[in-house]
Amino acid sequence: MRRTRCFLLLIYFIVGFLTAILCMLFFRISNFLFSTMSQSATRKPVIVVGSGLAGLSAAHEALRAGAAVHMLDRAPKPGGNSIKASSGINGAGTRFQRAQGIAGDDSFFADTVRSAGRRFTETGSPLVDRKALVEILTSQSENAVNWLADELNVDLSVVAQLGGHSIARTHRGGGKLPPGAAIVSALVEELKANSEFTLENSSEVDELLTDGSGAVRGVRYHNFDNSDGPAHELEGPVVFAAGGFAGDAHGLLSKYRPDLAGMPSTNEARPASHGLLSAIGAAFVDMDSVQIHPTGFVDPKDPGSAYKFLAAEALRGEGGILLSSKGERFINELNTRDVVSDAIMALPHSTVGSTRQWEITLLLDPGACEVAASHIGFYVWKGLVQKKKVRDLAPEVISAVDKYAAIVSKHEEDALGRKTFGHWRLPPGEANRDEEVCVGIVTPVVHFTMGGVAFDTQARVLRLEDGNELAPIPGLWAAGEITGGIHGANRLGGSSLLECAVFGRIAGIQAAKSVMTV
Ligand SMILES: Cc1cc2nc3c(=O)[nH]c(=O)nc-3n(C[C@H](O)[C@H](O)[C@H](O)COP(=O)(O)OP(=O)(O)OC[C@H]3O[C@@H](n4cnc5c(N)ncnc54)[C@H](O)[C@@H]3O)c2cc1C
Ligand SMILES: *[C@@H]1O[C@H](CO)[C@@H](O)[C@H](O)[C@H]1NC(C)=O
Repeated sequence: MRRTRCFLLLIYFIVGFLTAILCMLFFRISNFLFSTMSQSATRKPVIVVGSGLAGLSAAHEALRAGAAVHMLDRAPKPGGNSIKASSGINGAGTRFQRAQGIAGDDSFFADTVRSAGRRFTETGSPLVDRKALVEILTSQSENAVNWLADELNVDLSVVAQLGGHSIARTHRGGGKLPPGAAIVSALVEELKANSEFTLENSSEVDELLTDGSGAVRGVRYHNFDNSDGPAHELEGPVVFAAGGFAGDAHGLLSKYRPDLAGMPSTNEARPASHGLLSAIGAAFVDMDSVQIHPTGFVDPKDPGSAYKFLAAEALRGEGGILLSSKGERFINELNTRDVVSDAIMALPHSTVGSTRQWEITLLLDPGACEVAASHIGFYVWKGLVQKKKVRDLAPEVISAVDKYAAIVSKHEEDALGRKTFGHWRLPPGEANRDEEVCVGIVTPVVHFTMGGVAFDTQARVLRLEDGNELAPIPGLWAAGEITGGIHGANRLGGSSLLECAVFGRIAGIQAAKSVMTV
């Protein structure tokens, strides 16, 4: 008797359970059919301006939230400057850190604030909530790395410690593909497989369209392939992810930093798009905070090019030295980026075409060349580094090499304060004349613009309203290098890819919400 009761109960339970599942499935399917049949036909797409990591991250989340996405980029190919990123993306508390023996990481917030420097404590208008922005950036960093690794299958298993970080937290892959290219291509591939996603290349946005109340309602743009054709208009919420202005040497850069006007950059030479945001009243912060990298290669085939290839910091770390045009060392090469850049820029510059640059010799002895072989091979192939016998160098360079080699081999004190010599093993004097060194010409380059449009933790673009209050502009979100306030006076390496992923995703979700609830 008891056994049958039990048995019956079990049957009821199973039947009930199955019914519940069927009901849920039915609702999902009917919901899905309903939404695809009736709503998406009338719903406006989320418009994403820019196909760098910030734009791609926004598109990914907007699609996941059920919106259609229309992405516009003025370039013929997607990826912006994001595709060039070579060091990696920051994440604190990741399983990849743990795999390398880093049990915990609770110093990312403090490292970021320290690096941001005086900007963080400055008062003045407009006031963005820097602390809240950095809180989101750092607390969401593990999540961002997991998202790329787990959902997009990007290899981020190698973790390195960059300058200004108190711990190793910059993630990249173990293979040859640099992290920027790996992340961008994974996202582009995934997005292109989605029928709700449209990418128009060679399409430049010229204006943000607003309604009577000042809310953004869409964009006006034109297509380069059909430049005589009519301007297009597109209606929908806008995620603005148009990148920074480091490559706008004669435009925005010279406006905010006249002292840097005409300098070459590691960024693609292109006019900035910040003016589209100022035209509708958006507020800007920290626009004069510009990051200079001390070493970009001057290409002997095209010395006046405004675009320069980055000469990795590791070249100096492994033992490389810097020599002025007189063939003299002038700075401890291992000082921070800003100190080394300032020392170079205190020397006389040259002007090639419309580019203002310095021509500094970067020289690696055979020991340093060997250790940096993976970098060097590529630079030699690109024609940016030459291998030369010491005897074929200019006489003043030979004497500088001898002088430095003597300090290293005799463990003497370096007058410029360099304490570690990497893998330098070249001896001084006649003994080195047949040895091969690696030489290239480098110049300081504009690398990153910390400042940008004021925004909040929901990635809403802000404008100043009466009473000096910042208020969100309806219909407009922003993410990536176009935004300001997170990095203050100085960005930590690896934190720009991170801000693209974190705030790009937030912007995508928020913009999608605004159309889904219509
Ligand atoms: C050589 C190099 C190495 C770097 N290495 C690292 C690194 O290791 N780690 C790290 O965190 N950061 C690194 N950075 C910085 C980082 O790559 C960038 O800051 C970041 O990728 C910017 O991404 P974004 O999406 O904001 O803009 P971008 O990737 O620059 O994309 C912006 C896009 O918007 C488009 N656009 C602009 N205006 C318009 C318009 N009006 N209409 C249509 N389209 C428009 C542009 O064509 C571009 O494709 C590096 C940068 C460089 C240059
Ligand atoms: C750019 O767009 C054109 C027209 O849609 C397309 O034929 C081309 O393949 C696109 N280029 C890239 C690199 O995606």
